[in-house]
Amino acid sequence: MNRIIVNPKRVVGKVNPLIFGNFIENLDRCIYGGVYDPDSRNSDEDGFRKEVIEASKSMGISNVRFPGGCYAPFYHFEDGIGDKANRPLTRYKGYPASNHFGTDEFIKWCNKIGAEPFICVNMGTGTAEEAMNWVEYCNGKAGSRWADKRIANGSPEPYNVKYWALGNEISAPWELGYTETPQDYIKKAREFAMAMKFADPTIKLVFCGAHFPIDFPHDNWNRDILDALYDYIDYINIHDYIGNDYKDSVRDTWQEWGPVKTHYFLSEFMTLLEDAYRIMREDIRLINHKHNKFKTIGIALDEYNPWYRHEADHMVPFNVSDSLLVGSYFNIFVRNSDVATLSNMAQLVNTIPAMVTESGGTGFYRQGVSYVQEMFLANRDMTAVDVWNGGSTYQGSYYKEVQLLDTSASYDENNRTVILNIINRDHENHHTVDIGITDEQIDTISGQLFGDREIEAMNTFAEPARLRVKDFETTGSGVIELEPLSLYVLKIRLK
Ligand code: AHR
Repeated sequence: MNRIIVNPKRVVGKVNPLIFGNFIENLDRCIYGGVYDPDSRNSDEDGFRKEVIEASKSMGISNVRFPGGCYAPFYHFEDGIGDKANRPLTRYKGYPASNHFGTDEFIKWCNKIGAEPFICVNMGTGTAEEAMNWVEYCNGKAGSRWADKRIANGSPEPYNVKYWALGNEISAPWELGYTETPQDYIKKAREFAMAMKFADPTIKLVFCGAHFPIDFPHDNWNRDILDALYDYIDYINIHDYIGNDYKDSVRDTWQEWGPVKTHYFLSEFMTLLEDAYRIMREDIRLINHKHNKFKTIGIALDEYNPWYRHEADHMVPFNVSDSLLVGSYFNIFVRNSDVATLSNMAQLVNTIPAMVTESGGTGFYRQGVSYVQEMFLANRDMTAVDVWNGGSTYQGSYYKEVQLLDTSASYDENNRTVILNIINRDHENHHTVDIGITDEQIDTISGQLFGDREIEAMNTFAEPARLRVKDFETTGSGVIELEPLSLYVLKIRLK
């Protein structure tokens, strides 16, 4: 029997709605032929795929990052505004962009799905002036050059784009605009920040943290950025594609290992990400002490997903194991709610995708990862609280003890409801859990269940609903038997 105890009195923080973010980029068929697909019969009057809009709403996507990614340092917003007939055709990694999906279309599409826009400016081929103009184009009032252009393009009201990222993966040598040392980035980023805040002082800025703060050549990158850009910084970012780099890399071994060994290895290495959060939390605390303030600075994981298959093949199929890894990402966000305040699953459509479309056609299906996000919405706006997890463990290859049951919880005091998220990572065994809530008695437990006993099960055009969410209900006690390879999001009403 596995014992799990939720303590609603030990508060971690608020579960921030911005953790339910996503990301769209002109990479393969994500934007063109995915989000924007005027050739499809299933697109609306603006050329936006209707199923993508509906599924994005179901996923509760709260913010969308655009236009990249590694595409951002090539992207000039001026190419994507004004009369569509005059917009240039550009290419990125061989993928053509008509630029018919530019800033105005992005904002319109975000409004349709009910998400906040989050823009990453060009710090490669772009300038501080261009970034300032982009802010003014989006947020300026009539009577300034770029705001007047927006108005002339049909949008009299400012868009009030609040979230802006200053560069993408700029600490990594593969990135156009690469800044080798933190000092190189600080110098450049400060100028961008000053210029952008000049156009709108209310915007929130996301700065490039170390691409991943463990196994990173510049040990002090994050502290240096936090310290030198302290007056400007609202978020420091990281990216994490589990299985891709670092100690968790399975790029060269996953096929030889097979799905089960890969599953346990990657489940173990979600701990690496949690360590990254711990390290960055302490960096933020340290720099706050240095400045004698307690400024709220969040950690933005603004690209994440499993991505260990061939890098060039963007149509990544997500099996049950991959979907549960995304469940572990969400458990980490909830467990670290005090600092995990912005996250973006990468990407939305066709590229490392939450959902898949037949470009120009009508085929569509959602991948398991999208259902996992939808299930975690039950935690949105709740108070994240502590869970004592006395469940079974397994021996990891790096971490000594890895939880077979991965858990997190949140609480709503007014409705006396606990949300308990449990992943059973065991690929063949049921696990019985005995759930306790400190000082409280359980009235009812209901909720949702996702999973499949076949580790390689996935959705496809032929079988679009193999992986889906099922309802779950029990009464009386807090003892529950968990299916192998499953995620449960339980709604526990207290007496
Ligand atoms: O999401 C795909 C790519 O992965 C992004 O463009 C880049 O930021 C990351 O390396």
